[in-house]
Amino acid sequence: MKRILIALLIAVFSVPTFADEGMWIPMLLKRNEADMQQKGMKISADDIYSINQACLKDAIVLFGSGCTGEFVSDQGLLFTNHHCGYSFIARNSTLEHNYLANGFWAKSFEEEIPCVGLTVTRLVRMEDVTEQVLKGVEDKMSEAERENVIAANIKTVTKKATEGTHYSAIIKPFYYGNQYFMYVNEVFTDVRMVGTPPSNIGKFGGDTDNWMWPRHTGDFSVFRVYAGKDNKPADYSADNVPYKPLQHLTISLKGVEENDFTFVFGYPGTTNRYATSQAVDLAANVTNPVRIDLRTIRLNHYNNAMNQDAAQRLKYSSKVASIANGWKKWQGESLGINRLDGVEKKQEFEKRFQQWANNNPMYKDVLPSMEKNYAILKSIELNNTYFNEAVRASDFMGRAATLLTLANTTNDSLIEARKNAFIKQNETYFKDFDKHSIVDRAIFIETFTYMCKAGFGGFVANKDVDIATIEEMLGKIYDKSVLTSEKNIMKLLANYKAKDAKKILKDPAVELYQLAYENLLPASSRKEYSKVTKEINRLYRLYVKGMMEMDANNVSFPDANLTLRVAYGHVKGFAPKDGVYYKPYTTLEGIIEKENPDIYDYVVEPRLKELYNTHDYGQYANAKGELPVAFIATNHTTGGNSGSPVLNANGELIGLNFDRCWEGTMSDLLFDPNYCRNITLDIRYCLFIIDKYAGATNLINELTMSK
Ligand code: ARG
Ligand code: GLU
Repeated sequence: MKRILIALLIAVFSVPTFADEGMWIPMLLKRNEADMQQKGMKISADDIYSINQACLKDAIVLFGSGCTGEFVSDQGLLFTNHHCGYSFIARNSTLEHNYLANGFWAKSFEEEIPCVGLTVTRLVRMEDVTEQVLKGVEDKMSEAERENVIAANIKTVTKKATEGTHYSAIIKPFYYGNQYFMYVNEVFTDVRMVGTPPSNIGKFGGDTDNWMWPRHTGDFSVFRVYAGKDNKPADYSADNVPYKPLQHLTISLKGVEENDFTFVFGYPGTTNRYATSQAVDLAANVTNPVRIDLRTIRLNHYNNAMNQDAAQRLKYSSKVASIANGWKKWQGESLGINRLDGVEKKQEFEKRFQQWANNNPMYKDVLPSMEKNYAILKSIELNNTYFNEAVRASDFMGRAATLLTLANTTNDSLIEARKNAFIKQNETYFKDFDKHSIVDRAIFIETFTYMCKAGFGGFVANKDVDIATIEEMLGKIYDKSVLTSEKNIMKLLANYKAKDAKKILKDPAVELYQLAYENLLPASSRKEYSKVTKEINRLYRLYVKGMMEMDANNVSFPDANLTLRVAYGHVKGFAPKDGVYYKPYTTLEGIIEKENPDIYDYVVEPRLKELYNTHDYGQYANAKGELPVAFIATNHTTGGNSGSPVLNANGELIGLNFDRCWEGTMSDLLFDPNYCRNITLDIRYCLFIIDKYAGATNLINELTMSK
């Protein structure tokens, strides 16, 4: 135990060498301070995180369960991305009050709209609890024993930390369980919608521009946190009052120039920077290509339908946004890894590690065992991928899965609940089913035949059956299943009881789904999967610890795990390919350039055009008289950083992080300073929209601007 701690301490406190890569722990930021200041920062690490004084940390929150937000007024006003607020904006929209399409601006507190289910979490303090969590853990323990001891310790430590308070606490592993930090949080449950631009601004460029530079998306929305009269979290009540944060951000309208220092303070979700060569190869060359192909099939069908009429666009747009987001990112990721010779680079490092480890019995077998375990994982992972991206691609199979669950349910009240939920779903499912079934049937048939061609569909038909016959078989299954007829579903379910399970199981769709599950993910491989992933995790724990002992001077940050982090870098353009150079910022000119009234993603609001024509940018124009929209920088970010404040050298808000450049999306595994850029909405465009476009001066008056 001691040795682990010493290794970590050496790694953490020796003279650091920093690159642009890194998502740093706020509590330990002192060790980056000199580097940050040398790179241009004018404030101190204590200004960013301190438990003794109000600091920037108090202005940053986890928005919902996967985005970041920040307080911008002393009345709990909060900025985040439009795509982070999207589902709440959508839920509060109706056809008469379509806030998603037309935008929404509360002119008073009374007009703000409660968002059921939305939480905002503020970090009160964090603490290194490694020693308490690993108390009683011994090297010779099995993983299961180790997990039990750790779970019990975590329970004790979090209980003690929150006793007698309204706080909650969570403990997370770092460096694969070599270190543990506790986060004591305050969770607010009364959060209200205050403002959002129309989708033509908040989602300008849509999925076409997603992950891309040059970018012109006004990706922001505005919320407010409410608290009880004692300023503590309280569930929604008309009596609640705006929360008074300990700190809110000051906004700078001065903007940034190329090479200026910036930092991002937020909640990055997941990275895999310690991944072995096998893991990188598995993602880049094995699972990503399959996922991409299968999603291409789905997207083609949905996009076709969406281009046919507005009703279908509405119906599919949020589904398509989420399918397309991963689809596009994985393409960039695989290209980026291979452009970097990522697998070879990892192999070179592994060679060096092995040479070092050969003299060290504790680490000697780590990489050879990794290789063996990844070989097993690879085949299970491929089956997993086919199951999730092919078998479950159509709504048809999704509904078959739900029916199968019902058939496997024996508890009478649970049966009633599940049956009724299924019947209720019929209403939306069979609305324009004539159109939907064309799309869904094609997706079902094509994804399954893709799987058969790839040799993973042995359960559908023998290898020697030709594709046309398979397509015909699948078509019959689709048409014969009870799932394609509301009348037949009702006949089956109206008086459904546990003893009728057989009838469900005889349905060809349910049969196929069950067959797919049992063949692609049989119990034996599910068991193996859990064993192998546990073992791989144990090996990473050793591997990472060994790396730190080997290169004690090389400070490395722990992978993102949805805890508060600081990334820093510079505003910088880049060359995505030969002959092309990307400037670091965009302006309203580009929106007008992209305008196309015939393409949904590029429709420009008339009011915005008007402001453009009169060049009425007020205090939001830059020195050249342009209206800046977005900029890119070398900050290392990932999913979850959406909505994170991007701050300047003085710690003032200059923008909201909302995306990464496509050519650098391999940064979750491998960071390349030549390609990896985060994309930030310039705060001047955000305020311009609130002020000049929407006339919501009540909000502008609440903000604190630096002079
Ligand atoms: N790529 C960004 C992220 O990963 C934005 C996604 C939302 N926007 C969209 N057009 N789908 O979350
Ligand atoms: N859009 C992402 C999010 O929702 C941020 C982009 C990224 O992955 O860096 O967090």
